[in-house]
Amino acid sequence: MAPRRASITSIEDLRRLAERRVPRMFYDYVDCGSWTEGTYRANSEDLAKIPLRQRVGVDISKRTLASRMVGEAVTMPVALAPTGLAGMQWADGEILAARAAERFGVPFALSTVSVCSIEDVAAHTTRPFWFQLYMMKDRAFMERLIGRARDANCSALVLTLDLQVQGQRHKDIKNGLSTPPKPTLRNLVNLATKPRWCLGMLGTRRHTFRNIVGHVSGIEDVSSLAHWVSGQFDQSLSWEDVRWVRKLWDRKLILKGILDPEDARMAASTGADAIVVSNHGGRQLDGAPSTISMLPAVVEAVGDRTEVLFDGGVRSGQDVLKALAHGAQGVLVGRAFLYGLGAMGEEGVTYCLELLQKELDLTMALCGVTDIANAAHALLAPAQNVPPERQFARRA
Ligand code: FNR
Repeated sequence: MAPRRASITSIEDLRRLAERRVPRMFYDYVDCGSWTEGTYRANSEDLAKIPLRQRVGVDISKRTLASRMVGEAVTMPVALAPTGLAGMQWADGEILAARAAERFGVPFALSTVSVCSIEDVAAHTTRPFWFQLYMMKDRAFMERLIGRARDANCSALVLTLDLQVQGQRHKDIKNGLSTPPKPTLRNLVNLATKPRWCLGMLGTRRHTFRNIVGHVSGIEDVSSLAHWVSGQFDQSLSWEDVRWVRKLWDRKLILKGILDPEDARMAASTGADAIVVSNHGGRQLDGAPSTISMLPAVVEAVGDRTEVLFDGGVRSGQDVLKALAHGAQGVLVGRAFLYGLGAMGEEGVTYCLELLQKELDLTMALCGVTDIANAAHALLAPAQNVPPERQFARRA
């Protein structure tokens, strides 16, 4: 891939462009973690510390990144993570990201708290996408949401378990995060510097949480996400509720937000098809370990009972390779694609995927690895805890 713009050669370049183009409150919503942001930083920092193994004298002329995630063929084992409010990074953001993922041949996961609805995304794509669900108190609404995901031909349900209460994110409180933004003087001054974003928003009707508004009686205004979460999310969520969802949904079920080996064992016992080792991108329990530091122990805990996916801190193809080398079957990216979306809309998401693909492919080559299934060979030291047969044979 030749860079479309010589000035954009990394995800960090996309981030900088998004920072200029996206209104402050929505940029900050993405680029933040909870409290001290220590876990948010640790996700990327711990990935950066892992050394790779330089190899030479290996025939690397034929290489493949093709793989499978949760039973689906993918051009590379990377999916777009469910992220709330993507439609506020760029007008109709979820539709655009889903289209970019479809063209690229990787899965897209739509958040419960997206701006574009399940039906909106289904109407603009042909590849079945994943739908992410939060457990809410109103079980009739849950059943309706699951039914809507089924009707929209979603191939997998991603049940997120690590956000029954919301970790405090200082910036969101200070910015008065809401969708659409309130017409305060501060917001209006900031919006005046984002003409491209404003024009886009003027051209769409999609400005609020369209999976929710109009679908729950008595809920007309959910402009404040934090307020909605504290009122609606079910803090009594237990493994019994997970089994309830399993019974309602007969396609692939993915449990997201697993960081502890004990929880991973419980998750596997529910009959879930996959789990995502995740700390919500460092947005929930600040002080929790980085996801890459926990991945091998989780892989060991579940054995072959369920597929293990990974997210948190992935900003390059090298990070993808390192996660795969530690036993993940596939990787989800959140902020990396949101930066692309905020920077350049659909083209930016495609650009992000191209950057990841190129970095992944070149790094494999420099490590003497020709098949992504053998990612573990790229590590200088074998990942601890991951049994050798799991390291080398998962994707065989
Ligand atoms: C998220 N994440 C998330 N997860 C989820 O299950 N449902 C959601 O609605 C959201 N919303 C959300 C918004 C934003 C702005 C971010 C950055 C993240 C978490 C997401 O799916 C994923 O776990 C992390 O983004 C992974 O970390 P990286 O790739 O962003 O470092």
